[in-house]
Amino acid sequence: MNSKERILHWARPEIVALKPYQSARQEFVNDGREMILLDANENPFNSEVNRYPDPLQGKLKKRLAEAKGLESDQIYLGNGSDEVLNQLMIAFCQPAKDKALLLPPTFGMYQVCADINGVETIAVPLTKDFQLDVAGILKAQDKHTKMIFIPSPNNPTGNCFDRTDIIAILEGFNGLVVLDEAYVEFAAEFSCIDLLTQYDNLLVVQTFSKAQGMAGVRLGMCFAHPEIIALMNKVKAPYNLNVLTQEAVLRRLEEQGLVQQQVQQILTEKQRLIDELASISFIKTIYPSHANFFLAKVDNSSKRYSELIERGIVVRNPSKNHNCANTLRVTVGTVEENNALISALRTMDI
Ligand SMILES: Cc1ncc(COP(=O)(O)O)c(C=O)c1O
Repeated sequence: MNSKERILHWARPEIVALKPYQSARQEFVNDGREMILLDANENPFNSEVNRYPDPLQGKLKKRLAEAKGLESDQIYLGNGSDEVLNQLMIAFCQPAKDKALLLPPTFGMYQVCADINGVETIAVPLTKDFQLDVAGILKAQDKHTKMIFIPSPNNPTGNCFDRTDIIAILEGFNGLVVLDEAYVEFAAEFSCIDLLTQYDNLLVVQTFSKAQGMAGVRLGMCFAHPEIIALMNKVKAPYNLNVLTQEAVLRRLEEQGLVQQQVQQILTEKQRLIDELASISFIKTIYPSHANFFLAKVDNSSKRYSELIERGIVVRNPSKNHNCANTLRVTVGTVEENNALISALRTMDI
């Protein structure tokens, strides 16, 4: 089978056969001339947002393609990665038949997405030191396992996975490997985006919500083989990305120097926080982190969580996750916020 045949074989037959909605802005593609637009029942009075957005986000994809070293047809853009993940399941997983592999402790949205779409999940826990159990993963697949979700850096543990393990999964897994690189700017050397040229079953998901500082704008990106992107485009809402988001992201792409500075500052602050917290006796372990947060094992996570809330500081308590009993997940803040956290922890009873 060639790549196209393999990908169509993984896709839901209904989606392969689907005739997608043809929006006004797709039916007539402007060649740059000034046109009178009487085709989409819009309000004609200019307010900056009175026109529908470009349904396939051509200008933004062109800029992102340059920035990522890809072609525009390898890019799907969604309303946050959350929407991207959901579209993926819709396009590839047949409800009540297909399955997805999850690797707990992992990002909670994969399970929710699977539940919404009627997709059974199979859990293959990470090893004790939060690494991939490659043999276990490859053994757990069957002919209905359509995708596996691998967040690297992982949430909530913060660590990246070995590239050799990811390659072993790409080669041995007969389905889509969704590598969620939401935090990759904090560990750029771990990115596997370059593997897209070799593996037609790899999807790399990134976001503007974390290092890019635009969680409120909602932009998630999926980079993959053009056949995968074409299937995702088929199932998306016609105008899923609004005008304001597209413009804000284009502006942000011109400010990557500032983003780099912020990333460096966050990484420096993360190390300072880790060093300071190491001397607090009820903090037992701080796990290795390649992200803008870290996971810490404490004596009693519910108690410490509540004590921090009393002092006006909110962290996350992911203790219900597999192998995460008595842990807290801490996002790195500004210098002042981190100082407040250190002081608050120092005032707590041992
Ligand atoms: C691993 C991972 N993927 C995706 C997301 C969600 O990203 P977005 O804001 O683009 O929906 C998060 C958010 O916490 C995350 O931790």
